[in-house]
Amino acid sequence: MRVIILEDTDDVAHVGASFFLQQLELKPASVFGLATGSSPVALYDCLINAHRNDGVSFSRATTFNLDEYYGIASDHIQSYRHFMQVNLFNHIDVVPSATHVPDGMAEDPITACLRYEESIAEQGGIDVQLLGIGRNGHIGFNEPSSSLASRTRIKTLTKETIEDNARFFSKDEVQPTLSLTMGIGTIMEAKKVVLIATGRAKAKAIKDSIEGPVSASCPASMLQLHRDAVIVLDSEAASDLDNQAFYQFVEEQRQKLEAA
Ligand code: GLP
Repeated sequence: MRVIILEDTDDVAHVGASFFLQQLELKPASVFGLATGSSPVALYDCLINAHRNDGVSFSRATTFNLDEYYGIASDHIQSYRHFMQVNLFNHIDVVPSATHVPDGMAEDPITACLRYEESIAEQGGIDVQLLGIGRNGHIGFNEPSSSLASRTRIKTLTKETIEDNARFFSKDEVQPTLSLTMGIGTIMEAKKVVLIATGRAKAKAIKDSIEGPVSASCPASMLQLHRDAVIVLDSEAASDLDNQAFYQFVEEQRQKLEAA
């Protein structure tokens, strides 16, 4: 695991975005796994700026989002499809049909989930997967106790996640309690994984993910078994880590090697 600890949230967005931009430069037809939540918004702004100001093109890229609420339509203002349109897709030149978000209104969700997995495989798998993290260590909507080998499927949200996401729903709106989410096994097949986290509220989940045991009680801890997982943190999200000094030392060594 590569752990990058940065001063503030802007740095997390820039460094996080740099992995996607580097990948795109290497392979314009890259396949990206994308995430929702408040954490990726600033990172998406960096990608939009790169497109607008530096001529970076996403026209050959394909995207697959991690998850979607089950039971709400793609044009619902709280759907993750809507979130992606507003925060990224509408502002870059990605081909609309190359953007994939699980269908929250799928009549046959089991088949829809299988089909989602097939579509990822047909594109040759995900090159770089972006992740945020829930306070309980969830990735996508893989809540604690999710199988560490799970595939795209329906998941019930925990009370904690429902409460955390309640801020996005108005009082008269029905808040979904189910989701369709890539599984942990799906995420683990991405060639590279970039998890970003900021703020004190994420510190315990980050500590458990990086320095705790690999356990279904903290789904993100599975990333310890990924061959190329990068965790980009601000100082608050990193504040419970015991080995902060070592992670920073490793990054200094890396920079020296890259400069040599
Ligand atoms: C939701 C999403 C996750 C995301 C998490 C954290 O539950 N399904 O993919 O990582 O929220 O969101 P935030 O970045 O807003 O803290």
